[in-house]
Amino acid sequence: MRAIIIAAWLATVLAQVVPKWYMDNEYIRDTLNRDEYNTNNAFKSPIDTKNFPPIIPRPTEEQRTLKSGELPSYVIDYAPYVHLYLEERYMPYDIREFVTHFHVENKNGKVFPWTQNGGLNISLLAKLPKSRDLFLTSDEDFNTDPDWITGVKNQPSLVDGKIENAPATLIVVDKGNGWVDAFWFYFYSFNLGPYVLGNGPYGNHVGDWEHSLVRYYKGEPIIVWMSAHGGGGAFFYDNLEKHEIESTHPIIFSARGTHANYVSVGTHPHDLPYEILCDFTDRGPLWNPSKNYLGYFYDGSFVQPIEENQNPEHTGREIEYGDWLTFTGHWGDKQLPSDDPRQVYSTIGGYKYIDGPRGPLAKNLLRIIPCERAKWWNFWNGCNVRENIKYGVGIESEGYNCGNMFVHVKSQFIRKTLQMVTLGGWFCYVADLVYG
Ligand SMILES: *[C@@H]1O[C@H](CO)[C@@H](O)[C@H](O)[C@H]1NC(C)=O
Repeated sequence: MRAIIIAAWLATVLAQVVPKWYMDNEYIRDTLNRDEYNTNNAFKSPIDTKNFPPIIPRPTEEQRTLKSGELPSYVIDYAPYVHLYLEERYMPYDIREFVTHFHVENKNGKVFPWTQNGGLNISLLAKLPKSRDLFLTSDEDFNTDPDWITGVKNQPSLVDGKIENAPATLIVVDKGNGWVDAFWFYFYSFNLGPYVLGNGPYGNHVGDWEHSLVRYYKGEPIIVWMSAHGGGGAFFYDNLEKHEIESTHPIIFSARGTHANYVSVGTHPHDLPYEILCDFTDRGPLWNPSKNYLGYFYDGSFVQPIEENQNPEHTGREIEYGDWLTFTGHWGDKQLPSDDPRQVYSTIGGYKYIDGPRGPLAKNLLRIIPCERAKWWNFWNGCNVRENIKYGVGIESEGYNCGNMFVHVKSQFIRKTLQMVTLGGWFCYVADLVYG
C-alpha cells in the first residue's frame, strides 16, 4: 500500500516537473529537422509502411499530390463535425473580431503603442516582429466573462451546424506521393481549465486553438487525429463514428471548457494517474465547421488562400486576411503575475491563469506521423493509430456502460431511442453503480 502511495506521489511530482522541462525545450525540439526525422514512417506502427509510400513534408514538383492552392472536394466531404459540450460556457469565436479586443505586449510588458486604443486588427498581426515572446493582451478584464470571451452568440445552426459568426480555419498541406493533410483549426476565446480533486479551475488561458487532422491517401480518408492538451489521439477514419445522414463526415467531441477533442462521449482521464484530471464530452450542439471556414494552403514555407474550390462565402476575403498566420506570438494574455489578485497557485494544479497559446503554424503542420508531438512520458515518440474507439468512462458514457446495454437490440431506431432516453439519466447511473 505504501509503495502505491509513494508511486502515485512520485508520478504527480514528475507530472509537475517534467512538462515544465519539456516545454522549456520546445524551441529546441521545434527546430529539429523533422523532415529527416522518421522519414518513411507514416504511422509509427508496424501495420502500414509497407502498404503506403512515404509522406514528404515538402514535396518537389514531381512528388506533389495537389496543385498549389488547390482544395480538393474530398477535404470538405470528410471534414469532421464537432459535438460541443451541452453546457459549454466558452463557444467558438471569430478570430477577426477577437483581435480587436487586444493590444500587443512583449514578455516584459512593453507595449506596442500603435496596437492600443483599437489600433490592432487581424491583417496588422503580420506587421509585428517575428518573435515568440509577444502576447495579445486584453484591453479589458477578460475575467468578467464579456461576450467576446464566452462567444455566447455563436451557437451552431440546428439545420446545418453552421456557426454564422465564427469561421473555422482550414489549412491544406500537400504531403506528396498522393498524401494530403487537412488541418481544421477551432478557435475559442477562452480555455477553462480542469478541476483537480475538487479545486480549480487550473490552467485557464485567453485564446484557445484546438485542431483535428484528416489525412488522405489518393482522396481516401485514412486517419483522423485530434488535439487534446498538447497531445491527442489518432484513429483510422473507418472506425470513427459518422454523421447519421451525411455519413462521410466523422464526428469528434469537444470537451467542456478545455475544448480538447475526443472520439467518444464520457469522462476522459488525462495527464495524471487514476482519474485525478478528467475531461468531459457529451452530445451538445453539433458544429459543422465545413459550412464556414477560412481556407489556406501551406507548402511549408508560405501560406496562401485557397484558390480553387474556395468556400464561396469567403472568396477574396482571405487574401486580405491570410497574413495573420505568420504571427508567431501568443493568442492571449501572458500568465498573470503571482501578485495579481486573480492568480492562484497550487502544488497539484499549478497556476490558475497561464499563457495564451501560439497559433496554427506552431502546431507542427509538416508532421510525418499523424501526432503533433509526443507527451513527456512518451519518450519513444510513439503515435499509435487506433482501430478501437476508446470509449469514455463514467455515467455520461454511452459506450462503456449504459449505451452498451443495447448493442444487441436489432432495430436501429429502438436502440437509438433507448440510448437516448437513458443518456445521463437515473438508468445510466444505476448501470454505472452495478457494472461500472
Ligand atoms: C487594418 O488596419 C489597417 C490600418 O488602419 C487598414 O489599412 C486595414 O484595412 C485594416 N484591416 C482590416 C481587416 O480591418
